[in-house]
Amino acid sequence: MAGEQNTATGAKAPVAARSVALWDPVVRLFHWALVLAFFAVWFLGKFGPDQMTLHFYAGYAVGGLVLLRLIWGIIGPAPARFTSFVRGPKAVMAYARHLPARRPSNTLGHNAVGALFVVGILAVLVVQVTTGLIGDPEDYVNTGPLADYVAIETSRTALSLHELLGNLAMIMVIVHIAAIGFYRRWKGEDLVTPMITGKKQIPAETD
Ligand code: HEM
Ligand code: HEM
Repeated sequence: MAGEQNTATGAKAPVAARSVALWDPVVRLFHWALVLAFFAVWFLGKFGPDQMTLHFYAGYAVGGLVLLRLIWGIIGPAPARFTSFVRGPKAVMAYARHLPARRPSNTLGHNAVGALFVVGILAVLVVQVTTGLIGDPEDYVNTGPLADYVAIETSRTALSLHELLGNLAMIMVIVHIAAIGFYRRWKGEDLVTPMITGKKQIPAETD
């Protein structure tokens, strides 16, 4: 990663930090739009009006955003690419062992454990949108636009899965937000600012 490494003297520059570009505008826009769309779709699903048109619209927004992120994960810049942050079990375990340490990780991107959440929530959201589209609660109102293309038993099963994974998605999000708080409070690392500004502050001597 390019940057102004402090090479002026042999002495260690104590806490000098440098700012590196991390999250591109597409990732940031995706994230904060997804936050809005996710809470909208979830609360409309659970507590919204009986006629679920708004839930459907918010669901289409989630679908569009996830599709965008999946494409961006292939063609986007390095930190956004799945190949740059999805790691095998060894790397996940190695990172998990150091997780309790009370110091910043200074990872320039998603760490190996965080990547599990990223992939997991995207997968759950793909299933949510799919099961929503083909779901049919047989109330003649909230029928998914693609329900006619599958058998009614499939539509019913899809909605059971939709309900189950809807709850799981919310649990994952709560854990996600708690993890961000844990990094801030326990590890002294601010992950939120880079997701807003795109830039991350890291110690000058970090690669
Ligand atoms: C207000 C609450 C939230 C905060 C403060 C927050 C914060 C963050 C931060 C700081 C990251 C970057 C983590 C890193 O450095 O590795 C991140 C990533 C991510 N968050 Fe959140 N998040 C919130 C809510 C959500 C919700 C509701 C969802 C989705 C259902 C979500 C999905 C994601 C995804 C998919 C990523 C990966 C971003 C990417 O690579 O495109 N977050 N979040
Ligand atoms: C195009 C997308 C979507 C469509 C067409 C759709 C459709 C539906 C329908 C018809 C119901 C009512 C189920 C019933 O009455 O048994 C429902 C409930 C629900 N949906 Fe969606 N949905 C979509 C996307 C999503 C997404 C992305 C989420 C994200 C988490 C979500 C979360 C929920 C939740 C939490 C409920 C309430 C389940 C319960 O009763 O506990 N939906 N959805």
